[in-house]
Amino acid sequence: MTYESILVETHDRVGLVRLNRPQQLNALNSQLMEELATAIEAFDREPAIGSIVITGDERAFAAGADIKEMAAASAVEMLQRDNISRWDRLRRVRKPIIAAVSGYCLGGGCELALACDMIVASESARFGQPEINLGVMPGAGGTQRLTRAVGKAVAMEMVLNGRFLTADEALRYGLVNRVVPVEAYLEEAIKLAQEIAARAPVAVRLAKEAVHKAFETSLTDGLEFERRLFYFLFATEDQKEGMRAFIEKRKPEWKGR
Ligand code: HXC
Repeated sequence: MTYESILVETHDRVGLVRLNRPQQLNALNSQLMEELATAIEAFDREPAIGSIVITGDERAFAAGADIKEMAAASAVEMLQRDNISRWDRLRRVRKPIIAAVSGYCLGGGCELALACDMIVASESARFGQPEINLGVMPGAGGTQRLTRAVGKAVAMEMVLNGRFLTADEALRYGLVNRVVPVEAYLEEAIKLAQEIAARAPVAVRLAKEAVHKAFETSLTDGLEFERRLFYFLFATEDQKEGMRAFIEKRKPEWKGR
């Protein structure tokens, strides 16, 4: 598969997608989003890949949805295009996805990072939902995932008043996992992804599903869901291997089954 708006690489068991519209600060047009969803789904199907990293470049992770592509659209056209439904394909990905963020991470770009499971940020990262300045509002999770991540007070300021967060603020408010120097953010994200990709794949997959469930359900149902997945893992060879290896004081060898 050849892509025009993204670059795809593998680093051992990690699949890497680089958003690649640098002249437009990686603005997310429909072609880029289609290619991104297709590439991520391909990594999700590939047994040799254990986790995925999405990145932009040093200046911008992504400065938002492509304003020029949607500026003249009517409401009915927006509804018929329904570009945001592509985002549901990212949501269905079972392998962990890490966003490696440097520079501008705005609007749909911030929502894309929030749709990932973890965020590694460079010191230069700036997170914001500036849609309000365009006479609109977030449309791909900025009012929902952001609020769950940083809480009501900060989310309201970002969404209603276009406040940007520095990388350190984003760390303090729980939006990102870690902040590292600009030279190291991608390497650090790939390293984290490699560590996760080296773990028992079925357990990783179900654990991701269970954490996501916490945002969707009551505590009682969530605990029940978690317990069933926990018991289910005792049907895997990797559970037997993992516990045997602990007892025998050696490193486990995961089979992914
Ligand atoms: C289209 C964009 C863009 C965007 C930047 N560019 N952001 N094009 N859509 N979201 C283009 C500019 O037009 C310009 O192209 C080039 O990228 C460089 O940008 P500059 O503005 O010249 O750079 P700078 O002065 O450094 O300012 C950087 C910036 C600013 C502060 C990030 O570009 C900016 O405010 N961008 C828009 C941010 C935004 O409002 N995002 C939310 C979008 S709405 P030319 O051809 O002029 O050189 C959204 C809704 C999501 O995301 C809904 C769900 C998907």
